[in-house]
Amino acid sequence: MKKRFVSMFLAAVMAGTMVAAVPVMAEEATEAATEAAAADVDLSDKKVGVCIYQFSDNFMTLFRTELENYLVGLGFSKDNITIVDGVNDQATQSGQIDSFIADQVDVLIINPVNSSSASTITDKVVEAGIPLVYINREPDADEEARWEENNWNVTYVGCDARQSGTYQGELIADLGLDAIDKNGNGKVDYIMIEGDPENVDAQYRTEFSVKALEDAGLEVNELDDQVGNWDQATAQQLVANSLSQYGDDVEVVFCNNDAMALGALQSIEAAGRTVGEDIYLVGVDALSEALEDVLAGTMTGTVFNDHFSQSHSAADAAVRYLTGEGNEHYIGCDYVKVTKDNAQDVLDMVK
Ligand code: BGC
Repeated sequence: MKKRFVSMFLAAVMAGTMVAAVPVMAEEATEAATEAAAADVDLSDKKVGVCIYQFSDNFMTLFRTELENYLVGLGFSKDNITIVDGVNDQATQSGQIDSFIADQVDVLIINPVNSSSASTITDKVVEAGIPLVYINREPDADEEARWEENNWNVTYVGCDARQSGTYQGELIADLGLDAIDKNGNGKVDYIMIEGDPENVDAQYRTEFSVKALEDAGLEVNELDDQVGNWDQATAQQLVANSLSQYGDDVEVVFCNNDAMALGALQSIEAAGRTVGEDIYLVGVDALSEALEDVLAGTMTGTVFNDHFSQSHSAADAAVRYLTGEGNEHYIGCDYVKVTKDNAQDVLDMVK
């Protein structure tokens, strides 16, 4: 069963009542800490192992920094929180998980390198009797079904990437065909720069951004679809190639994340094109650089991937395993569509 977690933090941004954000965060932390105290669990003694697929990923850097701060705020000792870099290599990460098991950590939080390795990871972690919280890269439905069927202490915390893709498409559709259709062929001519194709976030953002255009009654024409692997420099190169091949026909550049959108923007500018005038560009994450671009008009929009809500939910889920309360097997959160209108609010929050 899917449990939606709507961050109070996020609700504050949407309602424009940002002053409420800090007290709400403190309340959230207090609640989980109180639960632990009530269950007579001393969090300062508990060892937490955190596996991140790759430290150099911009978004996961925001995520892990917030995760560590929040865990410490809950009462975990910084010395007992170990966060390791999987360097985008599943074999490396699997070795790190083995070490955490050998060290008898009390709970594991894992951002898998390959979500297809989740069943192997789950098997060994469950076998070791350690509760497991997956983050950011969602294992497939069969894998999640096993957790439920076996009543294992395993859950996933993340946002539904279909929503982010839909928001990207809507950011473009809302401009209206007249504004978008610079070459006058009656279609939205776009290029798509994808993240890691094994990652469901990349798959859904690609699919649902285009679907949102079609659902808005627009005809679409895909000029190019390339894999940028979430990486700015790769995307910069790919977009430079597409722009030189398709020239002024490129009306929209969809990037599955902001890091790649920042790379795309470098190439768009180098090609003498102007976002908001003769081309449109969207990303996902709401990195602060991207938010500055949205405010400046050099990015059409982005989608806030709420790393506060996700990291807090992951830590709270870890606490609920430690207290014996347990968790549902899916803990969701919402994305927020970001335009010039709310970019400053989101920037104030993420900075
Ligand atoms: C983020 C990307 C990030 C990826 C890592 C996605 O949700 O949007 O920026 O690279 O997660 O798995």
